[in-house]
Amino acid sequence: MPSPARTFDTEILTADAGGVARAVAFLRAGALVALPTETVYGLAADARNPEAVAAIYTAKGRPAENPLIVHVAGLDAAQALAELPPPAQALARAFWPGPLTLLAPLRADHGLAEAVTAGRSRVALRVPAHPLARAVLQAFGGPVAAPSANPSGRISPTRAAHVLAGLSGRIAAVLDGGACPVGLESTIVGFEGDAPVLLRAGGVSAEALAEALGTPLRAAAATGVLTAPGQLPSHYAPRAPLRLDVTTPAPGEIWIGFGPGCDDAVLSLSVTGDLSEAAARLFEVLHSADALGQPIAVAPVPEEGLGVAINDRLRRAAAPR
Ligand code: TXA
Ligand code: MG
Repeated sequence: MPSPARTFDTEILTADAGGVARAVAFLRAGALVALPTETVYGLAADARNPEAVAAIYTAKGRPAENPLIVHVAGLDAAQALAELPPPAQALARAFWPGPLTLLAPLRADHGLAEAVTAGRSRVALRVPAHPLARAVLQAFGGPVAAPSANPSGRISPTRAAHVLAGLSGRIAAVLDGGACPVGLESTIVGFEGDAPVLLRAGGVSAEALAEALGTPLRAAAATGVLTAPGQLPSHYAPRAPLRLDVTTPAPGEIWIGFGPGCDDAVLSLSVTGDLSEAAARLFEVLHSADALGQPIAVAPVPEEGLGVAINDRLRRAAAPR
């Protein structure tokens, strides 16, 4: 049993040099700070500090076997922690900073707290593109562990208010950077030997990865060896039940539209049918629908480009719990 989380008067830090400096001071002191990234808000702690890393698991109610992504300022800092095979380096050069996480074998001298990788021999690494996340990483000067800043299993946060709704009183501060522009978590790619394997659909589409690599990626399910243990069937869950691919909502359902022709929808992912806009709005719309406390029905979203990651999150939100 994790010990009960300490209670805090969670500070809201402003998106300026003072807010960044205060966030860095909290990280140095071993405290937890939610930071905006281009994907979702992350719950950040010093990845080398075992107590700080343990506090992440406690604050989120996260199972101990679900490891954390380590955020660094650039490719050199990533290579100080892990052995990136050549295709990983190629992907890093193509997509970092940005919404791509690479899973690679730890170096012997990594210096990370063991709980960061949940005792595994590979570490998940990401260089975020958000200017506030970059400013914090550069000033902090070390690796930062950060899962999404939501209670385990709930809807991911794309605004400071979402972080506070889930974790207020459990963390020292949130740096308020407004809405996250990508809105979906990073794509996770692992390597079997040198062969890239897609472990989680996310903010970089499989099509974009294939173009950079010159070859399509294998899906994790096809190999069965590499896994991202956080990919549970039920996740991103609103409190109310959620139905997918709905073109005619039932009475009493909150209908979330996509594209033209959803004029009766209370909320829309994108009225024009733009997948980037839908990705950016997905979690915000789910938070809003959930606040209304009625069953949720979502219009079909095409299974292409960012639509693959959007549908992945929607299927997990709809899964039986
Ligand atoms: O965009 C993102 O990736 C956001 C922002 C904050 O960077 N972070 C995020 O973290 O989505 P989280 O913890 O919600 O999801 C991380 C996923 C989980 O499925 C976890 O199991 C997997 O990455 N993961 C992390 N470290 C791993 C490792 N060493 N081996 C296998 N899977 C790992
Ligand atoms: Mg998460």
